[in-house]
Amino acid sequence: MKIVLSGIKPSGELNIGGYGGALHQFLALQQQQFECLFFVPDLHAVTVAQDPNVLRKRTMDIAAYYIAAGIDPKKATIFIQSHVSAHAELGWLMETQAHFGELSRMTQFKEKSNGKDTVSSALFTYPVLMAADILLYQATHVPVGDDQKQHLEMTRDLAARFNQRFRPVFTVPEPIIQQLGSRIMSLDDPAKKMSKSNPNANSYILFQDSPEVIHKKIAKAVTDSEGVVRCDWAHKPAVSNLIEIYAVFADESVETIESRYKGVGYGAFKRDLADVIAAKLQPIQRRYSEIVESDELIRILKDGAVKAAETANRTLLQAKQAMGFVTWAQ
Ligand code: AMP
Ligand code: TRP
Repeated sequence: MKIVLSGIKPSGELNIGGYGGALHQFLALQQQQFECLFFVPDLHAVTVAQDPNVLRKRTMDIAAYYIAAGIDPKKATIFIQSHVSAHAELGWLMETQAHFGELSRMTQFKEKSNGKDTVSSALFTYPVLMAADILLYQATHVPVGDDQKQHLEMTRDLAARFNQRFRPVFTVPEPIIQQLGSRIMSLDDPAKKMSKSNPNANSYILFQDSPEVIHKKIAKAVTDSEGVVRCDWAHKPAVSNLIEIYAVFADESVETIESRYKGVGYGAFKRDLADVIAAKLQPIQRRYSEIVESDELIRILKDGAVKAAETANRTLLQAKQAMGFVTWAQ
């Protein structure tokens, strides 16, 4: 039995990087009849300062976007992390198994703390909470973008370490990192990951961007002087990035795209790319606005939390028993 679990943090407006690395994969995996759990990791978002009102809105936004993009609540369990208290509790237990040294080697922590006077201790231990998220559901597969690879390796290490030291409680999960779309880069600089924390708003495309804005941003995207639509990450990273975005949003191969634009300049390619992205996002935006303020969404999230908690509490109890905590028969 394959069990898939993943989530997108409500720490900023959703951009198309999250589609390439995460949502696109969630949809494909849901089709394959795996047991799927997709959650909103709000406890992860507060590792950096959040405005409470904005956090509340963004949490509901991400959940609404899951559904708007096609995650089916009848097939997948959709829930908010903080609604299942077992996450925080197993997070603490797993912190006792994590080593300071291995956490110090996490590149995302290094990047996020670089140049800051103070960062929260939760930002440092964040990968342990992520491990708890995954292990609570005995997930076998975790679809993520490339930037989460190291965190997944740590999850695997922690699961194996716990199983070895106490008894086999946890499934050791596999990451699923797609070849295409797992590393969508900034439109203004192909050396940087596309991210909503970039101060240049032209560097990313948001889920909520209108077709006009998408056209404007793609028109401004950097390319190169060769004028050939060809994927070659070593020599043409900016154009390769645009081709990959096209491939993910049109569900086409890189080769198909390259041959379609043979002898055609970047102008026509960019206009079509903007159309392809807008065509994918427009129905998602429509469905999002129908569902985001609805009772239906609240009901889905409440049901999801009840269902998730059943599994999570079962695993948590096993972990506590294995560690020697007093647990009365339940
Ligand atoms: P986050 O919004 O940071 O919680 O990321 C949610 C998911 O999207 C994670 O699986 C990330 O690895 C993935 N992701 C975020 N940014 C990108 C990007 N620029 N390209 C590909 N995947 C991304
Ligand atoms: N750390 C992930 C990110 O930054 C989000 C996340 C939290 C996650 N817990 C998870 C992803 C569990 C997959 C599985 O994108």
